[in-house]
Amino acid sequence: MNVAVKHTHTSQYQRADIHVRKDLDFKINQVQTRYWYENSAIKTRIFDAICFTFPEGERYFISSVRAFRNQITNPELKARVADFIKQEAQHGIAHDKMNQHIEKQGMPVAAMRLQLNKMLNTMLENRSAKYNLAFTAASEHLTAMMADAFYTHKSTLAHIEPNFRALLAWHAIEEMEHRDVAFDVMSDVAQISYFPRAFAMVAVLTKVGILDVRLINQLIKADGYTLIQRIQLYREGISFTFGKHGVFTPMIKPTLSWFKPNFHPNKHPVIAQYPVWVKTLERTNDPIAAGEAFWAAGK
Ligand SMILES: [Fe+2]
Ligand SMILES: [Fe+2]
Repeated sequence: MNVAVKHTHTSQYQRADIHVRKDLDFKINQVQTRYWYENSAIKTRIFDAICFTFPEGERYFISSVRAFRNQITNPELKARVADFIKQEAQHGIAHDKMNQHIEKQGMPVAAMRLQLNKMLNTMLENRSAKYNLAFTAASEHLTAMMADAFYTHKSTLAHIEPNFRALLAWHAIEEMEHRDVAFDVMSDVAQISYFPRAFAMVAVLTKVGILDVRLINQLIKADGYTLIQRIQLYREGISFTFGKHGVFTPMIKPTLSWFKPNFHPNKHPVIAQYPVWVKTLERTNDPIAAGEAFWAAGK
């Protein structure tokens, strides 16, 4: 398998080829630890809330891009869209298993899913196909920058369950591989201009931010924490996420590059240790080993 990162358009643009990988097993059901992120309730539930949104969110991304599929004439982009759809479908399957895992812990997954679906279906039914495509492209940029932020430095995910670290690593790798697909459909096929594109990111940050805070609160409540305890946990959560050394702090600046008029996802370099994951999976056929090698190769 060729794992070289290619330069496209000009030397400023980098792209890793999309590879569809199916049925990778991260043995999530074998994880015994309730709070898999540093044994911390708030840190774990912040990650659980974000991961919870993936299956439904990714099915929404697929629908949004699929709406333009018949208008794509470039065979290369058509093929990348097909692979993007297959990758996102696999992510949904894997993250559904993670959601079953937290449901068994007593988390209100069914009620949370109703809220999320209501938000996504309202957008699909009441907004234009272009709005949903731009929303998807902006979300894809956010996910790719999140993937970079989690794995650039080893310290970020140093003390978490290896099974989850490997699941997130595989997802991160594939988000990096297909980061330009929805964007290219948005720009080249739907020809969405700068202002609706910029507005889409504002909508994503607002809607996803509000939703995640609500979901985290529901999870922590279901864990049995009182209001006073929750307030203390949220203070801890704010410094964990967006504090000086917060896990999401490094992604703020690259996410905002979306607003540059000449932005393209491939202007961001592909993460340095990308080939480590691909080669380790090829050699071992073990996605957990690949995830661990990828994480360990961080700065
Ligand atoms: Fe995904
Ligand atoms: Fe994606």
